[in-house]
Amino acid sequence: MELEKLKGRKIVLGVCSSIAAYKAADLASRLSKAGADVRVIMTQNARKIISERVFSTLSRNPVAFDMWGKIDDWRPEHISLADFAEVLLVAPATANTIGNFANGLAPDLLSSTYLATRAKVLIAPAMNDKMYAHPAVQKNIETLLGRGVKFVGPASGALACGDEGRGRLAEVEDILSALRALF
Ligand SMILES: Cc1cc2nc3c(=O)[nH]c(=O)nc-3n(C[C@H](O)[C@H](O)[C@H](O)COP(=O)(O)O)c2cc1C
Repeated sequence: MELEKLKGRKIVLGVCSSIAAYKAADLASRLSKAGADVRVIMTQNARKIISERVFSTLSRNPVAFDMWGKIDDWRPEHISLADFAEVLLVAPATANTIGNFANGLAPDLLSSTYLATRAKVLIAPAMNDKMYAHPAVQKNIETLLGRGVKFVGPASGALACGDEGRGRLAEVEDILSALRALF
């Protein structure tokens, strides 16, 4: 796929605590190889699934995950990242984080950055099919669609939890196509 459009683009990649987080490593790698300036925000729970070292290496930048960490800059990190982003891409996005976004809740760095940014937002959900179909999750997605947030996937098929249905993270190629379409 032609990735020229991503060269020099400032992309904040939010990674939530889904097993599909390993696919976001490929996404981070593909984005930085395409010449994008990638900054990864991981939720604290995502760090229980995959090491931030994977993302710092593949994105070629430090990974942000702690609202209250070491201070390198006078500006709070969620504001710096919110201003930096041309696109906030969240892949994989959990039901929890989608709920935070839809309801204006900001308990962590990723959801605080969402509220503070005026960048385009692209969300790639991943979750169990019954979670995805739950009216609470569907309502949150509708709310975000109504605000102009874009979604890619989820896809249908075998799920990591052993079930089968709609909830798989969209293919990395499809996420990249959806991202490219924003520029
Ligand atoms: C192994 C494992 C896999 C999980 N996968 C998902 C998932 O794919 N989607 C989802 O919405 N929640 C999933 N969860 C539940 C979330 O991790 C949980 O709701 C968490 O509070 C979300 O936090 P975050 O949005 O801050 O990452 C998973 C939990 C575990 C233990």
